[in-house]
Amino acid sequence: MCGIVGGTSERNILPILVEGLRRLEYRGYDSAGVAFKKNGTISITKNKGRVEQLAKKLNLKENQSNLGIAHTRWATHGIPSEKNAHPHASKNIFVVHNGIIENHNELKAQLKAEGIRFSTQTDTEVIAHLIKIYTEKGQSFEKAVFNTIKKLKGAYALGILDKNDPEQVIGVRNQSPLVLGKGFQENFIASDVMALSPVTNKFVYLDDGQVALLNHHKTVVKNASNQTVRVKTHEVDSNAYTTDLQGHNHFMEKEIFEQPAAVKDSIEGRLTKNETQEGIFGAGFENAVKDITNIQIVACGTSFHSARIFEFWSHKFLGINCRVDYGSEYQYQEPVKTDKTLLVTISQSGETADTLSSLKFAKKTGNPISLAICNVANSSICRESDFTLLTNAGPEIGVASTKAFVTQLTALNLLLLTLMRVHGCLPSARKRITKALNELPKHLEKTLKQTDVYKKVAKQLFKKNSTLFLGRGLYFPIAREGALKLKEISYIHAEAYPGGELKHGPLALIDKDMPVIALVPDNEHLDKITSNIAEVAARKGKVFTIGPLGKTKITKEGGHIKIPKTLDLLNPIISVVPMQLIAYYTALFKGTDVDKPRNLAKSVTVE
Ligand code: M6R
Repeated sequence: MCGIVGGTSERNILPILVEGLRRLEYRGYDSAGVAFKKNGTISITKNKGRVEQLAKKLNLKENQSNLGIAHTRWATHGIPSEKNAHPHASKNIFVVHNGIIENHNELKAQLKAEGIRFSTQTDTEVIAHLIKIYTEKGQSFEKAVFNTIKKLKGAYALGILDKNDPEQVIGVRNQSPLVLGKGFQENFIASDVMALSPVTNKFVYLDDGQVALLNHHKTVVKNASNQTVRVKTHEVDSNAYTTDLQGHNHFMEKEIFEQPAAVKDSIEGRLTKNETQEGIFGAGFENAVKDITNIQIVACGTSFHSARIFEFWSHKFLGINCRVDYGSEYQYQEPVKTDKTLLVTISQSGETADTLSSLKFAKKTGNPISLAICNVANSSICRESDFTLLTNAGPEIGVASTKAFVTQLTALNLLLLTLMRVHGCLPSARKRITKALNELPKHLEKTLKQTDVYKKVAKQLFKKNSTLFLGRGLYFPIAREGALKLKEISYIHAEAYPGGELKHGPLALIDKDMPVIALVPDNEHLDKITSNIAEVAARKGKVFTIGPLGKTKITKEGGHIKIPKTLDLLNPIISVVPMQLIAYYTALFKGTDVDKPRNLAKSVTVE
């Protein structure tokens, strides 16, 4: 989604802004732009398309500047175009924005009535006009910003410049992420730490309602009532934010192959020989969850799929009722009054607006114990939660989530083991799961070696229009994750069904042009999924099977992909790997933009 980077420095800031935009590309965008100070005035350069084109247009050899704001836009209001690209200006005021101004129509109507003419279709333009009007009334830049944000409803992170106050950049955060990066004789704002990691390792994570005022030697953070607040500066490990492909062709490929190491990092220091270490969820967690009677999980996309797997684990091993909702749906239902609830939010980025607002809603309407399973320390979701377990996957840049999923499941397994201990479940079961979890990296490693097999399947998929994924029980969420991977990066329609649902409708779609990928577990579902596969084969559907058993007789035309066998509860984690790589190779054969699929954003910061 939109990305912001801006700042002021004693040195030339333009290369820093452009590099910041490059490092924000992973979030997803369709256009980009920069406003920068030059010879006492502010110049704008914008572009529909890639940051690289913008960099050429900017003519970095000729242009130099000490102050500027830059933006990657992911269109919400108004088509992707140079005109709608940010920064937006109103005379002396220049604004970049991430989020949605929900009352922009109302504000636009008022401004139009005052004679203001709009030149874009965006919701952002109202902000520039409002600030300009206040400055024209004689208010300082800072006061004009404070008065403007009082009028805005919705989510926004802003970077703002005033031509008449040429030393200052103002950043505002309200429900959309913004960090303040502090350097020597230079200060910055950005949507995330990654954008600024080449220039500083000192960051302030702004809270909702905070306004950052920065010039090159000073930063001040104020709350919405214009009072200066004390903020904590965090030192982050900038090396962790490398954007190097390390020999891979795409970030998605790199991240898939990093999964064994990511799982190791996820469990590192968190397990004893027989179970989880005490205290890994933070002081007080185990005491807080000892009498829970419900678990409510909220998540979106891939993270939602990992939640659905935990739901099975919870019912089977804990006997605790677990409900899973989409972030975008949860808060629109009447909250059901429950006894003591553990509310788990799962998010790679920690900034997904739907998940974050559900968490805030749950805290407002009930009294849950909130736990974030998240990959980004200090992200909004972590800060909003009582407890956090970081997945430790390292930065995930490919839009299609891969190692985040596998480490979420690892972290959820640590949650399962911890709740099993706290709720007195059998030590022998905990020991068995712990042993299998420790062996998971080895199994993933092995699964990653069969790239030729995955390429062969991808060759048979990339010209198809539609595919079906089948799974039952624990494997149904995995089938959904496989379908999501394929559709988001190859644009091939992919649907997932529980095997038993085939005969209730989707079987009508089966013919020789509809490949089916079926997950075949070694558990109580084996016979039934085998029958489902036979139903497909009987209608000339080509079936590819994935599972820990040896070749079965049922797959006539497709093929069988054998994966290592582990405990049934962990085998789904292994079975996602072939589907990730099949999706990846299918996209390669089709020639789509694997890391930045069309229309999608990595960090979805609008509801
Ligand atoms: O950062 P989050 O885990 O909260 O993101 C949730 C979804 O937006 C994300 O998983 C999305 O579905 C991915 N593109 C899937 O690959």
